[in-house]
Order: sequence, then structure tokens, then C-alpha cells
Amino acid sequence: MTRLFSHFQSSVGTKVILALTGVGLVIYVIFHMLGNLQVFEGPHALNSYAAFLRDMPILLWTARIGLLGIAVVHVVLAIHLSLNNRRARPIAYVIHGYRRASIASRTMAASGIVLLLFIVFHLLHLTAGIIGPASAGLIDAEGHRDVYGTLIHAFQNPLMVVVYLAGQVGLAFHLSHAVSSSVQTLGFEHAALDRLFKAAGPSVALLVVLGNVAIILAIFLGIVR
Ligand code: HEM
Repeated sequence: MTRLFSHFQSSVGTKVILALTGVGLVIYVIFHMLGNLQVFEGPHALNSYAAFLRDMPILLWTARIGLLGIAVVHVVLAIHLSLNNRRARPIAYVIHGYRRASIASRTMAASGIVLLLFIVFHLLHLTAGIIGPASAGLIDAEGHRDVYGTLIHAFQNPLMVVVYLAGQVGLAFHLSHAVSSSVQTLGFEHAALDRLFKAAGPSVALLVVLGNVAIILAIFLGIVR
């Protein structure tokens, strides 16, 4: 038990938990984007889907608490690791060895902070209805919460579009490095598959961000109304 504890106190143990919690969050973000794409099928599809999720309170709250727990562990460990790395190297290198490091890998802390700020804003906006409350309590013709109407209202506002697109930039950079790096941390290394593993991060990032940006811009440009 003590050995297990000291293992997870080590930098390797921290990275493994960071990678595992990251994988959990990425899976959520992929399913969230796929679910939201139902906006293209119209109000009935999206509102019924939202109602279906809300109609299972035990499952909903288990998932919410689980997701929150995973997110908190992920953020706390990321801060812990980055402070430790700074402590281990208090003086920055004079010559930066950035030739092999991608922009995404060098900006993980910055993209993580942008993403965290976006998520807090997003929850206050679409889950709590504290930001933009005018559209929060809408009900559709079938008596469901009008999530579709709320999104249409939100993304007709250029300021909201800018905030959501900024969040997507943070998400793109963060996922792009995080997915490939997690694959490596979790020990999936094979010379023949090296290029595939390296491409996994940018591919997942592109898929998720394109789906989300399509929703935002389709509404803003009036394609979905
Ligand atoms: C265009 C992009 C996005 C759209 C249109 C969108 C839409 C929504 C909507 C409509 C809800 C409220 C669902 C409901 O109350 O029934 C929601 C909740 C949520 N979203 Fe998003 N979302 C987007 C991007 C993201 C991203 C990038 C993340 C995470 C990185 C995220 C994380 C969450 C979380 C954690 C919740 C709370 C879930 C809950 O209430 O149980 N969303 N989103």
C-alpha cells in the first residue's frame, strides 16, 4: 500500500493518472459533441435527447459527479506536475530545445487554462442558466426544455460566438497534444505504430472541434434556425 502510494506520488504515477483522467474527459467531449450534432436534425431530436438524459436523474447525477471528480483530479495533478517541473528546473534554458516540440505541447498550461475558463463559462451559461438567463427557461411545443431554442438564441449573439470559438481554440491545442501524449504515457508504444499514435491527438482534436464549430457557425450564419 505504501509502495503504491509512493508510486502515485512520483512523477510517473502522476502522469499515468493525468493520462487516465484525460482519456475519460476526451471520451465525454466526443460523445457530447456527437449528441449536440442533433441540432442539425431539428428541435424535436435535440430536445428529446436532452430530455432523455435528464429523465434518468440517478444516472445523470452519477455521471455528473464522476465527471466533476475526474476533472478536479486532472486539474489538480496538472498543476502539481507543472509546479514540480518548474521547481526541478528553476532557471529556464538559455537555448530552447523546441525544434522537436510542437506548439501544442509547449502551450499545454495556457490551453488548459483557456479550456477551464471556457468550461466554467459554459456551465454557468447552458447548465445553470446564470449567463444569458433570458433563454434558459424556454419550453418547446412538446413540454420539453427547449435546448435547441437556447442554442439558437446563444449563437445569434456574436459575442457568444467569439467566446465559444475561443474555447474551441483552447480545446484544439489541448487535445492535439494530450491524446498522443497519453497514449505514450500509458505505454502504447510500437515502432510500426509510432506515426499512428502521433496522429491520434491532432485527428481527435480536429474531429471534435470541427463538430463543435459546425454547430456554432451553422447557427450564426442562419443555416440552422
Ligand atoms: C459548440 C460546442 C458546445 C455546445 C453546443 C454544447 C452544448 C451544451 C448544452 C446544450 C448543454 C446543456 C445540456 C442540458 O442541460 O441538457 C451542455 C452542458 C455541458 N457541456 Fe457542453 N457544449 C459544447 C461544448 C462543450 C465542450 C467543449 C465541453 C468540455 C470541454 C463541454 C462540457 C459540458 C459539460 C460538462 C456540460 C454539463 C453537463 C450536464 O449538465 O450534465 N461542452 N453543453
